[in-house]
Amino acid sequence: MPRKSETAGRPKRSKASFVVVANRLPVDRSIGPDGREEWRTSPGGLVAALEPVLAQNSGTWVGWTGAPDDKQPPFEADDLRMVPVTLSADEVADYYEGFSNATLWPLYHDVTAPPVFERRWWDAYREVNRRFAAVAAEEAATGAIVWVQDYQLQLVPALLRAERPDLRIGFFNHIPFPGYELYSRLPWRTQVVEGLLGADLIGFQRRDDASNFLRAARVLTGATTRGSVIEVAPKDGAPGRHLRAAPFPISIDTAGLEALSRRPDVVGRANELRSELGNPSTVLLGVDRLDYTKGILHRLRAYGELLDDGELGPPGTVLIQVASPSRERVGEYQNLRDEVELIVGRVNGDHSSVGNPAIHYLHQSFPKEEMAALYLLADVMLVTPLRDGMNLVAKEYVACHHDLHGALVLSEFTGAADELRQAFLVNPYDIDGMKDAILAAVRATPVEQSRRMRPLRRRVIEADVHHWANTFLGALDMVTTS
Ligand code: F6P
Repeated sequence: MPRKSETAGRPKRSKASFVVVANRLPVDRSIGPDGREEWRTSPGGLVAALEPVLAQNSGTWVGWTGAPDDKQPPFEADDLRMVPVTLSADEVADYYEGFSNATLWPLYHDVTAPPVFERRWWDAYREVNRRFAAVAAEEAATGAIVWVQDYQLQLVPALLRAERPDLRIGFFNHIPFPGYELYSRLPWRTQVVEGLLGADLIGFQRRDDASNFLRAARVLTGATTRGSVIEVAPKDGAPGRHLRAAPFPISIDTAGLEALSRRPDVVGRANELRSELGNPSTVLLGVDRLDYTKGILHRLRAYGELLDDGELGPPGTVLIQVASPSRERVGEYQNLRDEVELIVGRVNGDHSSVGNPAIHYLHQSFPKEEMAALYLLADVMLVTPLRDGMNLVAKEYVACHHDLHGALVLSEFTGAADELRQAFLVNPYDIDGMKDAILAAVRATPVEQSRRMRPLRRRVIEADVHHWANTFLGALDMVTTS
């Protein structure tokens, strides 16, 4: 949805009773046909998840615009006040690309790439977290609810509490929280846990993530826990407190996406795509940010072997792999792109013919209408991460398949697998197992497809993003802090 920047001449708004604090603002800047600056809703799971919640509770969103040295003043977009936090080019390199995405990201995703521990990055992380906390403290009304999002901002809860003890502070971790054996490698492990303990409620995607955190809190800070309740002893003049750490699996705007997938233009586009592909009997689809946690290489390896074995192949079967560009200045992401493109080239070289590629590889991002058409088109959806906090793509695919057609192949190592038990579940490290699951999904009869799809749909319809936000905010309201 296009959003215009309307900074000029607006009266200063009163402080907000609901503030979201996230690394990114939920907008992308572009220049419209009239040459004026425009803001558009940006793609991504977090934005998709929180946009409907904010629309219901006209609130303030504190975040970074995504560009270095961007000194953008606060602006209004629809009913939402956006308050940008400026990051210098060095801070983008050290706080965002460095500590967030080359230290925490691989460490929290089971070390699927080696985490880099760099002291300068930690200093930048602390400084940027301090700035986000200061802006949130400035924006929040007395007694407001502040909801801090994700691993980039784990120090914000304690920093905010120190400045504004009147606030009710929630934190939600969108990515996994690792087992203590891995987490304890982090040189700043105690400071990070103490930062999170400043919240009244800490939400995780899975029960295991919450248990991992509870253990880290006990071991590193001496906090005591009973079930999901954590008791923090008085320290340095700060009183003792109770807080909770519990699972709140995130979801999608299921009804909105289903409505989109029923739109005649989207249905027409799905039909057009199938015909452009030469009307194959089976379309397989992968949709991921180009990230090493997503298991794209393992998936391509399994698919390539199925083609080598003569089990599948063009023109009857095609794979579309959307790999949207992500974190392109981080070394591991550059290496991954090279490896993915090497294997795509090899498979296509061995198995394509003129006009009939085995893999349609798209290193691009697409608007949500095109994504819905792709989901509709896909007979088999391949979601095979090595580790993923949730994976909303799996839920989006299910939301679009209201006719109960289609099959979902889903990694056990996603948060979504805890809920979507009727998918074809796979261990992506087991290439033979993954080949078997892909073949079973391709060969599933319509009866088998609907037998699985029906309960999957029930789950994403009941537990949608509104349910997630209401449950989290309801639990935040219930926490007794003394
Ligand atoms: O899933 C974690 C997350 O940080 C999301 O919040 C975000 O949408 C996605 O990864 C993309 O990350 P980035 O903001 O680094 O592009």
